[in-house]
Amino acid sequence: MDKCTAALLTAIGLTIIFFLSPITYAFHEGGAEEYCLGCHNIHRSAGSQGSDTGESSVAPKITLRGSDSSSTCLQCHASSGAVQSVLSNDGSRFTPGGDFYWLQKTFTWSEGGISYESEADSHGHNVVALDYGLHQDRRHSTAPGGGYLASSLACTSCHNPHATTMANGETGSIVSGLTIYGDGPFADTTSGNYRLLGGAGYQSSAQGSAMAFSHEPPIAVADSFSWTETDSRHPAYGSGMSEWCANCHSDFLNSSAGGAGGRHPAGKGAKLNGDIARNYNSYVKTGDLSGSQAQAYLALVPFEVGVSDVVFLDPSSSSGPGLGNANVMCLTCHRAHASAFENSGRWDFRAVFIAESHPRFGDGGVNGSDVVNSYYGRDITAEFGETQRQLCNKCHLKD
Ligand code: HEC
Ligand code: HEC
Ligand code: HEC
Ligand code: HEC
Ligand code: HEC
Ligand code: HEC
Repeated sequence: MDKCTAALLTAIGLTIIFFLSPITYAFHEGGAEEYCLGCHNIHRSAGSQGSDTGESSVAPKITLRGSDSSSTCLQCHASSGAVQSVLSNDGSRFTPGGDFYWLQKTFTWSEGGISYESEADSHGHNVVALDYGLHQDRRHSTAPGGGYLASSLACTSCHNPHATTMANGETGSIVSGLTIYGDGPFADTTSGNYRLLGGAGYQSSAQGSAMAFSHEPPIAVADSFSWTETDSRHPAYGSGMSEWCANCHSDFLNSSAGGAGGRHPAGKGAKLNGDIARNYNSYVKTGDLSGSQAQAYLALVPFEVGVSDVVFLDPSSSSGPGLGNANVMCLTCHRAHASAFENSGRWDFRAVFIAESHPRFGDGGVNGSDVVNSYYGRDITAEFGETQRQLCNKCHLKD
């Protein structure tokens, strides 16, 4: 093991040990001594070998540590038990974005003699990661409502690996000269954008400028103590998430009520007007409207507060929306990575009663703790009862 790998492993080990303290070890901030080497191997040409300064007239060759971009990320982000893991082998990562595990799980069942399935590929964004058996979506060739090719969907389609998003939300350039020891992040950039998401102008190498982003990263604050999402520890979403998703799904962005295409409104203009906000706050479960704003937040149905300054965002708030300012967004109903349900839903959109969602005990493909993990460890029957209807009711009170 070389020196830098050892240093990284030590640092990652420390993050695990201090699981309950704030997530302060910041690999992507350039905190690790040899930051670039977390993802790259640097091959120096013969002429530069033996040089103490690492400087050479011949540019060193940079390769990725994994077979592809996503496999490189997963070398750290699939480590079992690690705080930063987003790919487990049992669906137990209850992160806001969701566990890529579900992309490997197809569930089947039959009802009244008819066979149904909830197909693995429909459970979220199928990133291609050869070293981890994650493959291209077989159902969509492009992003629905946009042109982004499914064949090159990667972690880096959405996340900017070099944290080159600048303070104004636009994307800066990667350093050209290579000074790899102790440097980074890049001088004129900030890695303060939410979850390293690509900013305006961002493009991953696979699809180039044709698919460059036009929307800035969303304003949100993640909980710094735990990435396990609960009703009182969760990202506080401010604004711009739907607009950001529209970098690839432009036709789905429909921020005004009654807008085009039969899509649900989502975005800065899709405000939770007085009635809808009041419904959200009083709704506890089907048949129970005794809630109050202070305790109304339900992580299964999040909303954007409707602010563009992070100082107003509190990831430990249990509060429901104020009247008129908050808005509905794509992540009100979807997970950004993957979920146990079709269409990357936060809940099963097809179930009449949520307690009867699939995966369900007895379904083909279910094993281990799939059922309880599908709702992030919640006991749906105990919490909501057997007759809980679709969670759309949190805002609409239809049944
Ligand atoms: C978190 C992982 C990660 C880190 C850390 C990282 N890179 Fe990269 N780098 C990548 C990935 C992934 C690609 C391939 C880009 C793509 O697919 O769009 C890449 C591509 C590149 C390229 C090719 C140009 C390009 O944009 O495709 C250069 C040059 C580069 N990196 C330099 C660096 C330097 C210098 C550092 C340290 C300051 C660094 N990288 C740190 C992941 C990383
Ligand atoms: C060498 C290990 C390592 C590699 C490789 C790596 N990461 Fe990370 N990543 C971490 C650690 C540790 C954290 C948690 C601490 C932090 O925020 O830096 C993290 C955090 C993150 C976060 C959350 C950041 C935040 O501020 O909330 C994102 C998003 C992320 N990584 C994406 C990626 C992507 C995309 C790649 C591949 C291009 C990648 N990582 C490669 C170790 C790694
Ligand atoms: C970089 C481009 C890109 C961005 C950004 C993006 N998506 Fe996607 N999305 C795709 C592609 C490509 C597919 C089709 C391939 C697949 O489903 O794996 C897809 C598929 C989907 C699906 C269908 C999943 C299924 O298989 O049925 C949903 C739902 C979705 N995206 C929601 C979102 C949301 C919500 C956001 C914002 C948090 C978002 N997307 C951001 C590219 C993107
Ligand atoms: C379609 C876009 C998209 C793709 C592809 C994607 N991410 Fe994310 N990721 C997001 C968004 C958006 C968030 C913030 C989710 C939230 O807060 O609800 C996020 C959050 C994260 C986080 C913080 C923890 C969490 O789950 O909320 C990590 C770590 C991360 N991503 C790593 C990765 C890695 C590694 C890959 C590839 C294996 C990847 N992402 C692929 C959009 C994406
Ligand atoms: C976080 C709150 C929220 C949730 C959850 C929610 N909606 Fe909505 N819905 C809204 C808002 C806001 C509007 C637009 C304002 C209005 O029509 O009063 C809207 C409008 C609608 C409309 C009218 C369409 C239009 O274009 O005006 C329908 C139909 C609808 N929602 C169905 C659903 C369904 C089905 C679900 C569950 C899959 C759902 N909603 C979940 C907030 C929500
Ligand atoms: C109120 C809940 C709700 C909101 C908000 C919402 N969706 Fe959906 N979405 C659904 C449901 C339900 C389905 C599955 C049924 C359908 O296709 O209409 C779906 C399906 C999808 C699909 C799959 C379509 C296909 O052809 O396979 C994509 C992609 C998608 N949504 C993206 C988005 C994006 C991007 C946003 C934000 C701009 C968004 N959704 C906002 C509820 C929602």
